[in-house]
Amino acid sequence: MADLQVGSVLVTGSNRGIGLELVKKFLESPVPPDWVFATCRDPEGPKAQELKALASEHSNLMVLQLDVTNHSSILEAAKKVESKLDGSGLNLVINNAAMMHRTMLHDSTREDLMESYDNNVIGPLLVSQVALNMLTRCQAETYRKDGILSVAIHPGWVQTDMGSMAAPLTKDASVRGMLRVLASLSEKNTGTMMDWEGNTLPW
Ligand SMILES: NC(=O)c1ccc[n+]([C@@H]2O[C@H](COP(=O)([O-])OP(=O)(O)OC[C@H]3O[C@@H](n4cnc5c(N)ncnc54)[C@H](OP(=O)(O)O)[C@@H]3O)[C@@H](O)[C@H]2O)c1
Repeated sequence: MADLQVGSVLVTGSNRGIGLELVKKFLESPVPPDWVFATCRDPEGPKAQELKALASEHSNLMVLQLDVTNHSSILEAAKKVESKLDGSGLNLVINNAAMMHRTMLHDSTREDLMESYDNNVIGPLLVSQVALNMLTRCQAETYRKDGILSVAIHPGWVQTDMGSMAAPLTKDASVRGMLRVLASLSEKNTGTMMDWEGNTLPW
């Protein structure tokens, strides 16, 4: 992994895809975080078995239930994180959880659109008060003075359930790239959107 060193990190949607790859890379790091909080909707379900197996091998990995559309589950997870960190605070929050409807816009129902908005915009906002795209820019102005960096990182088109196997990028390459980008961030990047190779993207 690139030389990103953090004391603690929380990743949402970490039971599969890019989220799971991020968790693996943090655990494999030569200087792993003291705590990796891997959150997912259903830690006991069939789609979280790989994550659970990792947790049995790594004492610094804590798997927590968190559905980004369920405010009380976010608050419950936050309580558990707080008590583990004992006042030291989280260093990094990765709002990775998201969903995508495969329908074209003209075929989308009101329910489809509301569900996407709930998962992909309101969810990340509730998790860390950091929203996607333009919202990240507004948030960044608020948090800059507290030394908190806020960026949106596009992972590229990646071979996951969402990206499909037709995608050109492996999870490994995308996540390595994003971790390199994270390691290189400074205040000048806050509020921007970047890609996995570190290029700044227009809003
Ligand atoms: N793959 C690409 O080509 C691509 C391109 C652009 C952006 N991205 C972004 O990269 C991130 C990861 O995507 P991916 O390709 O890894 O997708 P993925 O394979 O479909 O995985 C999505 C993850 O998000 C979780 N999730 C969905 N809704 C959730 C909710 N309400 N609460 C908690 N977790 C929830 C899923 O959990 P369940 O298992 O419970 O469903 C799963 O762990 C997303 O933000 C996506 O928008 C991906």
